[in-house]
Amino acid sequence: MLISNSAEDTEEIGKKLGEKIVKSLPEPQVLALWGGMGMGKTAFTRGIAQAFGIREQVSSPTFAIINEYRGENGNIFHFDMYRVNGEEDLESIGFYEYLNKGLVVIEWSENIKNAIPLGAINVFIEPGENEYQRKIEIEGITV
Ligand SMILES: Nc1ncnc2c1ncn2[C@@H]1O[C@H](COP(=O)(O)OP(=O)(O)OP(=O)(O)O)[C@@H](O)[C@H]1O
Ligand SMILES: [Mg+2]
Repeated sequence: MLISNSAEDTEEIGKKLGEKIVKSLPEPQVLALWGGMGMGKTAFTRGIAQAFGIREQVSSPTFAIINEYRGENGNIFHFDMYRVNGEEDLESIGFYEYLNKGLVVIEWSENIKNAIPLGAINVFIEPGENEYQRKIEIEGITV
Protein backbone atom coordinates (compact mmCIF):
# COMPACT_ATOMS: atom_id res chain seq x y z
CA MET A 1 0.00 0.00 0.00
CA LEU A 2 1.30 3.43 -0.99
CA ILE A 3 0.56 6.74 0.67
CA SER A 4 0.02 9.90 -1.35
CA ASN A 5 0.00 13.28 0.37
CA SER A 6 -0.92 15.44 -2.62
CA ALA A 7 -2.35 15.36 -6.13
CA GLU A 8 1.27 15.60 -7.38
CA ASP A 9 2.21 12.48 -5.38
CA THR A 10 -0.73 10.60 -6.88
CA GLU A 11 0.31 11.68 -10.36
CA GLU A 12 3.87 10.55 -9.68
CA ILE A 13 2.66 7.12 -8.53
CA GLY A 14 0.60 6.92 -11.72
CA LYS A 15 3.67 7.80 -13.75
CA LYS A 16 5.73 5.04 -12.11
CA LEU A 17 3.01 2.51 -12.87
CA GLY A 18 2.71 3.92 -16.41
CA GLU A 19 6.42 3.38 -17.00
CA LYS A 20 6.06 -0.19 -15.87
CA ILE A 21 3.08 -0.70 -18.20
CA VAL A 22 4.96 0.81 -21.15
CA LYS A 23 7.74 -1.73 -20.56
CA SER A 24 5.29 -4.64 -20.52
CA LEU A 25 3.26 -3.62 -23.58
CA PRO A 26 1.40 -5.03 -25.48
CA GLU A 27 0.24 -6.48 -22.16
CA PRO A 28 -1.41 -5.49 -19.86
CA GLN A 29 -4.22 -3.60 -21.50
CA VAL A 30 -6.79 -2.70 -18.90
CA LEU A 31 -6.26 -0.51 -15.86
CA ALA A 32 -9.31 -0.27 -13.61
CA LEU A 33 -9.43 2.61 -11.14
CA TRP A 34 -11.57 2.23 -8.02
CA GLY A 35 -12.39 5.03 -5.59
CA GLY A 36 -15.12 7.59 -5.18
CA MET A 37 -15.57 11.21 -6.18
CA GLY A 38 -12.43 13.32 -5.97
CA MET A 39 -10.18 10.45 -4.87
CA GLY A 40 -7.66 11.29 -7.58
CA LYS A 41 -8.48 8.88 -10.41
CA THR A 42 -7.93 11.57 -13.02
CA ALA A 43 -4.74 12.77 -11.30
CA PHE A 44 -3.48 9.18 -11.41
CA THR A 45 -4.41 8.90 -15.09
CA ARG A 46 -2.41 12.08 -15.79
CA GLY A 47 0.69 10.32 -14.50
CA ILE A 48 -0.01 7.27 -16.66
CA ALA A 49 -0.42 9.56 -19.68
CA GLN A 50 2.94 11.22 -18.99
CA ALA A 51 4.64 7.84 -19.07
CA PHE A 52 3.00 7.18 -22.44
CA GLY A 53 4.44 10.43 -23.78
CA ILE A 54 1.04 12.05 -24.09
CA ARG A 55 1.09 15.84 -24.12
CA GLU A 56 -2.64 16.50 -24.31
CA GLN A 57 -4.53 17.69 -21.25
CA VAL A 58 -6.12 14.76 -19.38
CA SER A 59 -9.52 15.35 -17.77
CA SER A 60 -12.43 13.11 -16.70
CA PRO A 61 -14.48 12.30 -19.80
CA THR A 62 -17.68 12.46 -17.76
CA PHE A 63 -19.85 13.62 -20.64
CA ALA A 64 -17.95 12.21 -23.60
CA ILE A 65 -17.47 8.93 -21.63
CA ILE A 66 -14.25 8.29 -23.55
CA ASN A 67 -11.15 10.33 -24.38
CA GLU A 68 -8.48 8.98 -26.67
CA TYR A 69 -4.88 10.06 -26.30
CA ARG A 70 -2.03 9.16 -28.60
CA GLY A 71 1.51 9.20 -27.27
CA GLU A 72 4.88 8.16 -28.57
CA ASN A 73 4.93 5.19 -26.16
CA GLY A 74 1.38 4.03 -26.85
CA ASN A 75 -2.26 5.00 -26.91
CA ILE A 76 -4.66 5.39 -24.01
CA PHE A 77 -8.43 5.06 -24.10
CA HIS A 78 -9.68 6.83 -20.99
CA PHE A 79 -13.22 5.92 -19.92
CA ASP A 80 -15.32 7.56 -17.25
CA MET A 81 -18.14 5.17 -16.31
CA TYR A 82 -19.79 7.62 -13.90
CA ARG A 83 -22.89 7.87 -16.07
CA VAL A 84 -22.76 4.32 -17.38
CA ASN A 85 -25.15 1.96 -15.67
CA GLY A 86 -24.21 -1.63 -15.95
CA GLU A 87 -22.74 -3.82 -18.60
CA GLU A 88 -25.48 -3.43 -21.21
CA ASP A 89 -24.48 0.21 -21.81
CA LEU A 90 -20.95 -0.88 -22.63
CA GLU A 91 -21.98 -2.41 -25.91
CA SER A 92 -23.48 0.89 -27.09
CA ILE A 93 -20.43 2.96 -26.18
CA GLY A 94 -18.25 0.49 -28.07
CA PHE A 95 -16.22 -0.38 -24.98
CA TYR A 96 -15.29 -3.89 -26.13
CA GLU A 97 -13.86 -2.62 -29.40
CA TYR A 98 -11.22 -0.61 -27.55
CA LEU A 99 -9.80 -3.64 -25.78
CA ASN A 100 -6.60 -4.73 -27.54
CA LYS A 101 -6.12 -1.33 -29.21
CA GLY A 102 -4.09 0.26 -26.44
CA LEU A 103 -4.30 0.79 -22.71
CA VAL A 104 -7.89 1.13 -21.52
CA VAL A 105 -8.04 3.20 -18.31
CA ILE A 106 -11.36 3.11 -16.48
CA GLU A 107 -12.68 5.59 -13.92
CA TRP A 108 -15.72 4.47 -11.90
CA SER A 109 -14.99 0.77 -12.39
CA GLU A 110 -17.60 0.22 -9.66
CA ASN A 111 -20.33 0.86 -12.26
CA ILE A 112 -19.19 -1.89 -14.62
CA LYS A 113 -17.52 -4.30 -12.24
CA ASN A 114 -18.58 -7.47 -14.04
CA ALA A 115 -16.98 -6.24 -17.26
CA ILE A 116 -13.50 -5.66 -15.81
CA PRO A 117 -11.33 -8.36 -17.42
CA LEU A 118 -9.62 -10.89 -15.14
CA GLY A 119 -6.14 -9.82 -16.21
CA ALA A 120 -6.71 -6.13 -15.46
CA ILE A 121 -4.48 -4.08 -13.21
CA ASN A 122 -6.63 -2.74 -10.38
CA VAL A 123 -5.83 0.49 -8.54
CA PHE A 124 -7.79 1.23 -5.38
CA ILE A 125 -7.68 4.79 -4.04
CA GLU A 126 -9.05 5.40 -0.55
CA PRO A 127 -9.13 8.38 1.79
CA GLY A 128 -6.17 8.76 4.16
CA GLU A 129 -5.80 10.44 7.53
CA ASN A 130 -6.48 13.94 6.26
CA GLU A 131 -7.99 15.85 3.33
CA TYR A 132 -4.84 15.53 1.22
CA GLN A 133 -3.90 11.97 1.96
CA ARG A 134 -4.81 8.91 -0.11
CA LYS A 135 -4.06 5.24 0.33
CA ILE A 136 -3.28 3.61 -3.00
CA GLU A 137 -3.27 -0.12 -3.55
CA ILE A 138 -2.06 -1.52 -6.87
CA GLU A 139 -2.92 -5.10 -7.80
CA GLY A 140 -1.95 -7.13 -10.84
CA ILE A 141 1.54 -5.71 -11.46
CA THR A 142 4.50 -4.91 -9.24
CA VAL A 143 5.61 -1.29 -9.34
N1 LIG B 1 -3.37 12.95 -2.37
C1 LIG B 1 -4.17 13.39 -3.34
N2 LIG B 1 -4.24 12.71 -4.51
C2 LIG B 1 -5.06 13.12 -5.48
N3 LIG B 1 -5.84 14.20 -5.43
C3 LIG B 1 -5.80 14.92 -4.30
C4 LIG B 1 -4.97 14.55 -3.22
N4 LIG B 1 -5.15 15.45 -2.22
C5 LIG B 1 -6.03 16.33 -2.66
N5 LIG B 1 -6.43 16.04 -3.92
C6 LIG B 1 -7.43 16.81 -4.69
O1 LIG B 1 -8.51 15.94 -4.96
C7 LIG B 1 -9.01 16.18 -6.26
C8 LIG B 1 -8.86 14.91 -7.09
O2 LIG B 1 -9.45 15.15 -8.34
P1 LIG B 1 -9.53 14.09 -9.50
O3 LIG B 1 -10.30 14.77 -10.58
O4 LIG B 1 -8.19 13.56 -9.83
O5 LIG B 1 -10.41 12.96 -8.80
P2 LIG B 1 -11.33 11.85 -9.50
O6 LIG B 1 -11.23 10.64 -8.63
O7 LIG B 1 -10.95 11.70 -10.92
O8 LIG B 1 -12.78 12.48 -9.36
P3 LIG B 1 -14.11 12.16 -10.24
O9 LIG B 1 -14.72 10.93 -9.67
O10 LIG B 1 -14.95 13.35 -10.01
O11 LIG B 1 -13.69 11.99 -11.68
C9 LIG B 1 -8.21 17.33 -6.84
O12 LIG B 1 -8.90 18.53 -6.60
C10 LIG B 1 -6.92 17.26 -6.05
O13 LIG B 1 -6.27 18.51 -5.93
MG1 LIG C 1 -12.00 11.84 -12.68
